Order: sequence, then structure tokens, then C-alpha cells
Amino acid sequence: MSEQVFITDVGPRDGLQNQTKLLSVEQRVALICALADAGVAQIEVGSFVSPKAVPAMANTDLVVAALQTQSRYKASNIALIPNLKGYQLARTAGLPRVVMVLYASDSMAQKNAGMSMAEANRVTLQILDEAVRDQIQVVATIAVVFECPFEGPIDPRVSESLVDQFLAAGAHQVVLADTIGAADPQQVRSLTARLVQNHDANRLGCHFHDTRAMGLANVYAAVESGIRRFDSSIAGLGGCPFAPGATGNVATDDVVMMLQQMGFETGIDLKKLLEASELAGQMTGSDKGGRAKAWLLGQLKKNAL
Ligand code: COA
Ligand code: ZN
Repeated sequence: MSEQVFITDVGPRDGLQNQTKLLSVEQRVALICALADAGVAQIEVGSFVSPKAVPAMANTDLVVAALQTQSRYKASNIALIPNLKGYQLARTAGLPRVVMVLYASDSMAQKNAGMSMAEANRVTLQILDEAVRDQIQVVATIAVVFECPFEGPIDPRVSESLVDQFLAAGAHQVVLADTIGAADPQQVRSLTARLVQNHDANRLGCHFHDTRAMGLANVYAAVESGIRRFDSSIAGLGGCPFAPGATGNVATDDVVMMLQQMGFETGIDLKKLLEASELAGQMTGSDKGGRAKAWLLGQLKKNAL
């Protein structure tokens, strides 16, 4: 049997939060359903953040409510939270899983959540405590693992110690996020290899942006170390409004194409995924797509996917 890789499509959150065009709740739900129909294992459906800070993510509660009404669209949803209030909103919405953001630099913590790194750590521990009682799984994503747009390169020991601390504290998984897409495959390989040696690889994930065209190479480097969980964004949409220079995430379209060609099982139907990618492009008015867009569309036309 081929080995499984789990993809979380963060497009409906990371992808849409930075778009100039705001999508309606119905459009966001349609995109999420298209991704779920393509077989994406998990979908980051939005974020519970201040609507003043990120207008595109206003009404995430309504998006979740619409998805909760249909059992086939219910199980795979996760949403991002920056603080305790976000956790409470996600819990009220009935989500079984949340992504809380940790930071490898103080400046990024301040810009993104108005906290220090230590405060974000403390709040996350509090959320983990409540989540046990609420039976909610908490994924901790560490932002700016490799490089911070304000402080420059980050010592990998910072993230290693956060991974140790938060896996021990009961985080369901810890995800390493290259928020501005600055990492190279060598760095990724060495950090992930050390982490996989010390932790269950199933509880580790990676989140890459493609700013310097190294997104796919970084996915490959992490796969080589034994990482089997990746965040990626449909059509390569994405970026953080609070991290200057961050461009789109590595495209789910490309990641799935590469992994399938390498013989991994993702559970994703590439043809349906490409349809979701086209839908994302139409809705946002972006013609981005993955790096293999032209080839993939050609295959789609020939009915060869
Ligand atoms: N969801 C919705 N509203 C929230 C909130 C949340 N998770 N956390 C705080 N708020 C509201 C407060 O109630 C307050 O509302 P008011 O102005 O109507 O009184 C307002 O936001 C400011 O709250 P405060 O605690 O002073 O926070 P802040 O101004 O320092 O902002 C954040 C902190 C985290 C709320 C804000 O910076 C934010 O939402 N950032 C988004 C981060 C993000 O999405 N980044 C990209 C993905 S990593
Ligand atoms: Zn991101």
C-alpha cells in the first residue's frame, strides 16, 4: 500500500485573507465544499480574528454554521485563532479543531496578535487546558519559523523548543510555518530531520509559502525527513497581511500533483481539485493557479487527469 500524506488546504483562510476582493459567505462555503468534494483531508475554513484587522475573515461563524448543516462537510473543518477570544468563538461555532498561532519572534507576535511570544505561549497553554474539557483538538502553528520579516533569520532552536513544549503540553499537532517563504530545502531538511528523530512524525506538519519559488522543494525536503502533513493553498493563493513580503502559499494543485507522481496517497482527486482551483480563481479574480497550471489544465482538457 502506498504511503499516505495528509493535506490541509488553507486557501479559504490564508488564501482569502489577503485578497482585495472580499468573498461572500456563500462563495466561501462553495469553495470549501469544492475542496471537500475533491477529497482534501482537512480544510482551514476561516479564522476567528478581529473583522477590523482582517475584513475578509468576518463571518467565519456563518461559514462554519453553513458547513455544520451537512455531515459530509462537517468533519474536516478547522479554523485559525489568534487568542482566547478566538478560541471561545470557534467553540461556540461548534468546531472540533482549531489552529492557534505561536511565534518564533517577538516582533511577529506583536504585529499579528498584539502579544509577546511569551504571552502567546501562555494563552496557548490556557487554551490547551480548556480544550481538554471541551474535547477540541488544538493544532499549534509556529509562525516565522525560519525567518521573520522584522527580525531576520531565526535560530532553529527557538522552534525546536516550542515544538518540544507544546507537544508535551498536549497540542494535537505542531506545524512549522515559513510565513514569508524564506526557507531553503537544506534548512527545512535539517530542522525537520531533528524533529522527526525526537517526536512522532504524525504530530508534525509544515506550512510553506512560495515567495522565492522554493515551496515545492521545501515540501520535498520535509517529505524526505518523514513529514507527512502539509498545509497548502488552492491555486497558490495566500499571504499574511501582517508579514510584509509574504506571497502565496505553495499551491495544493502542485503539491498533490508532485506527491501523487511520487507514489504517495493523498485521497485527492486531482481533476476535482483543479476544478476547485479554477473556482478559486474565478471567485477571487486571480489567475494565479499553481506553477504547473498550464500543464495541469492541458491534462484536464485531454481528460487525462
Ligand atoms: N475575534 C474577533 N474579535 C476579536 C478577537 C477575535 N479573536 N480578539 C479580539 N477581538 C476584538 C476585541 O473584542 C476588540 O473589539 P472592539 O474594538 O470592538 O472592542 C478588538 O478586537 C481589539 O481587541 P484587543 O484585545 O485590544 O486586540 P488588538 O487590537 O491588540 O488586536 C487581534 C488583536 C488578535 C484581535 C487582532 O490583531 C487580530 O485579529 N489580528 C488578526 C491576525 C491574523 O489573522 N493574522 C493572519 C493569520 S496568522
Ligand atoms: Zn501562511
